[in-house]
Amino acid sequence: MLAGGCDSPVRSGWSIGEPMFVQSFAQGAYAYDEAGRRYIDYVMGYGPLLFGHTHPGLVSGLDELARGGFVWGVTHPEEVRLAERVRAHLPSMERMRFVTTGSEAVMSAVRVARAFTQRSLVLKFAGNYHGHFDLALLDAGASAQTLDARRGGIPQGVARDVVIARYNDLDCVDAVLRGREETLAAILVEPICGNMGWVRPEPGFLEGLRERSNRVGALLIFDEVITWPRLGLRGAQGRENVTPDMTTVGKIMGGGAPIAAFGGRAEVMEMLAPDGPVFTGGTHAGNPFCVAMAHRVLDLLEAHPEYYTQTASLARRLADGFRAIFAQRGLPYAVVQDESVVDFSFRAGAPSRNYDDARAADKARYAAYYRAMLERGILLPPSVNEVMFLSIVHSAEDVGTTVAAACEALP
Ligand SMILES: Cc1ncc(COP(=O)(O)O)c(C=O)c1O
Repeated sequence: MLAGGCDSPVRSGWSIGEPMFVQSFAQGAYAYDEAGRRYIDYVMGYGPLLFGHTHPGLVSGLDELARGGFVWGVTHPEEVRLAERVRAHLPSMERMRFVTTGSEAVMSAVRVARAFTQRSLVLKFAGNYHGHFDLALLDAGASAQTLDARRGGIPQGVARDVVIARYNDLDCVDAVLRGREETLAAILVEPICGNMGWVRPEPGFLEGLRERSNRVGALLIFDEVITWPRLGLRGAQGRENVTPDMTTVGKIMGGGAPIAAFGGRAEVMEMLAPDGPVFTGGTHAGNPFCVAMAHRVLDLLEAHPEYYTQTASLARRLADGFRAIFAQRGLPYAVVQDESVVDFSFRAGAPSRNYDDARAADKARYAAYYRAMLERGILLPPSVNEVMFLSIVHSAEDVGTTVAAACEALP
């Protein structure tokens, strides 16, 4: 029996009090339940599936790949070539190390930053999500929703070395840091946040974090696990034109296969064993199967820059569909669209700037909407903190069907 019926709590539906959706099959833009009913899937594995579920460029020839073996436990040339390719797109990752999950990538980056600065304090932001290791869960967004009751098993001591600020609020950053600047190892941030709904950094916010990290001698870590390469091959850092000291990536880079990475300035990454004193490792780290999948993802994206414009225009169409419904009914909800991401919440006013805004969304309304959309063959994430992800295989027809369903499902 599965503990709690699932391997990741969000899947259970507990966060909106809905029954768990059980899926038995997937193809393209569609998820299928146990009865074989088809749903247009906007969960997309919580982000990784920029190409949908079964893109031929990713799944063809897998037998041959498997014949080479899944895990070797040694360094191989394709791993080195992948690092070079990632660095070509994200030059701030001068050196990197591959791991299996985003959680591992961020946990490792934080350890390296602490060792490099010989300091302990980490500043992070309420509503950002960086995985399920101890410090990351404090005031996290996404499915964690870590009220005190959900912090079981995290030693209180962990919180002593963490300060939490409001996203998009540099005054708050200064306030929580006051008197502790000299102990700050790292500022950890989602440069564009996808875990309290979709929240963009306001002009000057990331620059302000960069300036403060420089001033106090701390490292700036951009967690791009959800943004790279969904928002483009240059990531959020390229788009926002702010260079971090360290970066974490994951999710999308494997096209569904579990691979992630952390990296940064060469002198910082030299802290890692065998060169330096910081240990990170992994049986499955850089395994040939996942590395090959990551190459396939980059092959597709480098050869087809039009994928970004296509998915963005489809997402715009979906967002406009929601906007038209809201305008027609006088509903005061803001719709956000960014590349292939669409998001709105049941909260009046401008798009969320921070977790305080995001938390004010009406969960009961979302639950009713989620259920009504599911009944109409549309699969949404069962959490108000998650967003809708489109893929290159969603069609205009899918979007039309979704808007028609929303017309009926929305109040
Ligand atoms: C920004 C960000 N960082 C880290 C993670 C953790 O990644 P994983 O679930 O692969 O451990 C997530 C997962 O949602 C994420 O969105």
